[in-house]
Amino acid sequence: KRVAILLSGGGSNMMALAQSMTGDHPARPCLVLSNDPKAGGLVRARALGIETAAIDHRAYPDRPAFEAAVQARLQHSSPDIIALAGFMRILTAGFTGAWAGRMINIHPSLLPKYRGLHTHARAIDAGDAQAGCSVHEVTAELDDGPILGQARVPVLPGDTADDLAARVLVQEHRLYPAVLRRFAAGDRTRLDLPPVVGID
Ligand code: GRF
Repeated sequence: KRVAILLSGGGSNMMALAQSMTGDHPARPCLVLSNDPKAGGLVRARALGIETAAIDHRAYPDRPAFEAAVQARLQHSSPDIIALAGFMRILTAGFTGAWAGRMINIHPSLLPKYRGLHTHARAIDAGDAQAGCSVHEVTAELDDGPILGQARVPVLPGDTADDLAARVLVQEHRLYPAVLRRFAAGDRTRLDLPPVVGID
C-alpha cells in the first residue's frame, strides 16, 4: 500500500509513521505534502528520502481550488491511503468524499470529546482526569469519523496545556503507526493502547 502523508507543521507524526513503514509492514510512504512550503516536516521528509510537495493554500482563491491542486498532485503519486498528520486545513465534503474509507487523521483528544482546536486547554479547564489522542477515519464532519484507535494519558495537577500536549504527543507517536499498520492490512477493528507504566 502507498501512503501519502499530509502535514502543516513540524511533522513529528509523519516521522513516526514513515519510520514505522519498514520490513514486512504492508505500506510505504509515497509522498509527504504540506499546505505550507515552510513546514519543517518537508525538510524532515526529504532527509528520509521521501518525495515531497508543497501546495500553498494562500496561493488559491478558495478551498475547492486549493483542493483541486492537492488532488492533482496526489494522483501523480497514486496513494492508496492518505494519513493526515498535523494537517491544519479543513477539507471540504468534496475532498473527504473522494477519499472516503481511505483517509485517516490523528486528533489530540479522546473523541468524541473536544473536536476542533485547543483540545488540551479544554480538557484541563474541564477538570478531566484523563486526556489522549484518537485516530479516526476522515468524513465530511470535522474530527467525527469512525474511531480506529485511542491512547490515554493522565492529566496531572498543575499541568499546563503545553505539558499535556507533550505527554499526548508521545502517545500519538505510538498510536498512529500501530493503527496505520492495521488499516493498511484492511483491519479496522478499534485499537485502545494500554497505558505505558510510568508516564510522567
Ligand atoms: C500536534 O499538536 C498533534 O497533536 C497534532 O498535530 C500537531 C502537530 O503534530 N496531531 P506534528 O508534530 O506536526 O506531527
